[in-house]
Amino acid sequence: MKIDELDMENFVTLTLGAMYLFLLFCFGFSKQILLANSTDDNKGKDLLAGKVISQSLGCMACHSLDGSEGVGPSWKGIAGTTRELDSGEKIVADHFYLEESIIQPNSKVLLNYPAIMPSYDLMHRELDEIVEFIESLN
Ligand code: HEC
Repeated sequence: MKIDELDMENFVTLTLGAMYLFLLFCFGFSKQILLANSTDDNKGKDLLAGKVISQSLGCMACHSLDGSEGVGPSWKGIAGTTRELDSGEKIVADHFYLEESIIQPNSKVLLNYPAIMPSYDLMHRELDEIVEFIESLN
């Protein structure tokens, strides 16, 4: 009788202990998954915002996303490449260059393209989202 009680107590303690450890493990694991997903989601949302804004501003009338030429160059794969300007200068299309091309399109005009892009007065956040979207097309 006494031994049985001890066994029972041990059994309960061990089971509860194991369940506790298991729950801790699950909690840590799901937190990891949630964290990973949330950063992915945020990135996805930002990129989507950039796409929606540029669509609503009409950028796609002159710029394609798939590499095909329009009135202006396609946005596909331009980020980080060297661009040739009509001034004879060459410049790397970094984040800053892309931002400048949108708010002051005529300060640097690409070689073999007309200087007809209108300038856009955007909030910094919108500008950032558009540029991140362009950069994601690489
Ligand atoms: C009326 C046509 C037109 C519209 C609308 C237009 N663009 Fe442009 N864009 C051009 C042309 C043409 C060029 C190339 C000549 C130049 O550098 O200005 C250009 C150049 C650019 C460049 C530099 C690309 C490179 O390869 O270096 C970026 C970035 C850009 N546009 C973004 C935008 C964004 C963002 C919008 C909308 C908010 C927009 N454009 C709307 C015609 C347009």
